[in-house]
Amino acid sequence: MFLRMATPRLPVSRLDVAARLLAGALPRSVTPMIDRVRLDARAMLSSLGPGLPPVVKSRAGQTARPTPLEEIDPIDHLLPRRVAAAVHQLGRDLGMLGGMLSGRTPPPTIERGPSAYASVDQTPAGSLASRRVRVTFVRDETPDARSFGLAFDDGSPIAFEAGQFLSFELSVEGKLERRAYSLASAALPGVEPFITVKRVPGGKVSNAFLDGVEVDARIRVLGPSGLFVVPDDAGDTLVLIGGGSGITPLASIAETCLRGDQERRVVLVYGSRSDADVIFRARLESLAAEFPERFRLELTVGPRLDGDTLRARLGDFPRAATYFLCGPGPMMDACREALIEAKVSPARILEERFSRRGALDVTFEDQPVVVKAGAREHRYQCRAGQTLLEAGLAAGLSLPFSCAMGGCAACKLELVSGQVHADESSCLSAQERAAGFVLTCVSRPLTPVTLKLDA
Ligand code: FES
Repeated sequence: MFLRMATPRLPVSRLDVAARLLAGALPRSVTPMIDRVRLDARAMLSSLGPGLPPVVKSRAGQTARPTPLEEIDPIDHLLPRRVAAAVHQLGRDLGMLGGMLSGRTPPPTIERGPSAYASVDQTPAGSLASRRVRVTFVRDETPDARSFGLAFDDGSPIAFEAGQFLSFELSVEGKLERRAYSLASAALPGVEPFITVKRVPGGKVSNAFLDGVEVDARIRVLGPSGLFVVPDDAGDTLVLIGGGSGITPLASIAETCLRGDQERRVVLVYGSRSDADVIFRARLESLAAEFPERFRLELTVGPRLDGDTLRARLGDFPRAATYFLCGPGPMMDACREALIEAKVSPARILEERFSRRGALDVTFEDQPVVVKAGAREHRYQCRAGQTLLEAGLAAGLSLPFSCAMGGCAACKLELVSGQVHADESSCLSAQERAAGFVLTCVSRPLTPVTLKLDA
């Protein structure tokens, strides 16, 4: 399993905020220089006196570093906390409104509401309630991958952004299992939404889908949700890199972009084990024929896609492009490393990781958890290896969640104290991680922890 512990950060100073504001006002090309001057200034000031913490210091055996410039949000540091939260929310609402006015599909269905966060034991996360979809068609894509057309049972459309997923609830062997599957169809009017499920050896849900789900089956889902979507500032080129069933959100993004956007170029590098395993071959080749100027398709068949293959296929990586990675963990790690080596900004790399990965390599013990919600406190015990969400729900708390896999941020809470070990997650923003938020669905406590729900 690929695990990441949050790197301790030194407190953000006025100097950091000033540097961030300056970087925002000047061309991006001078940002590295501003950052260097900031770090040098911090080092110099800290050597003169106690005004600023040193650039690097040891804390409880860990090294704390200045917060990276791109993670500093001046709004959070210049405005009172509640005002900053309101400004962020207003920005999200305006973005949502702008998207709707410009004809884009609505954002995730995960709603917010003051009451959902006011008291964990009184207010169920009703806005996250699942809905029923009906399977409208079943189509084989490869010998072990099958597509399932979907429609909400009540007839309402499944509105989503290309790259988002649904979390399915299936009863397998008497136990409720939940898995997320990306919508693989284009997010365009008139296109019937579908997911594509690839059989995983021993995989309970994928096998249940392929062996038992037929046309007219009804399944409960949460979502659509997820932030693996094309950002507004994505630039004029999208580079999509995928392996195996990781093609599903990428195919949606590629087709939506090519058919719905008149200008953006798309490069898709897609690796499969064998010719027979190439999912959507005909669809992708037909897009390449239809959009020869704007779509470059690089299929690789054979050994797993890695940094060398990527360099061979892409040549110079377009620096101003936005990169999307989805596929097996080792493939994603290798490709990400190659992109970083090629000086692609991490902010330009989006990742989607759905697979639960291997066994944890850390030892957990039972830990007490406190959840503060306004003036109230709720206490429960997290058994060794349980996630904060699993234990909280088992204790009867109505904590917010949706995908339960680290992909939607619905379960985001502030970690007030203590340490957690979290699965790699791509859906918390750098600012949210720096501000101490954790995803309870993929976080396990290493020490007693206190969490905070916004009242
Ligand atoms: S419930 Fe979706 S990230 Fe935790």
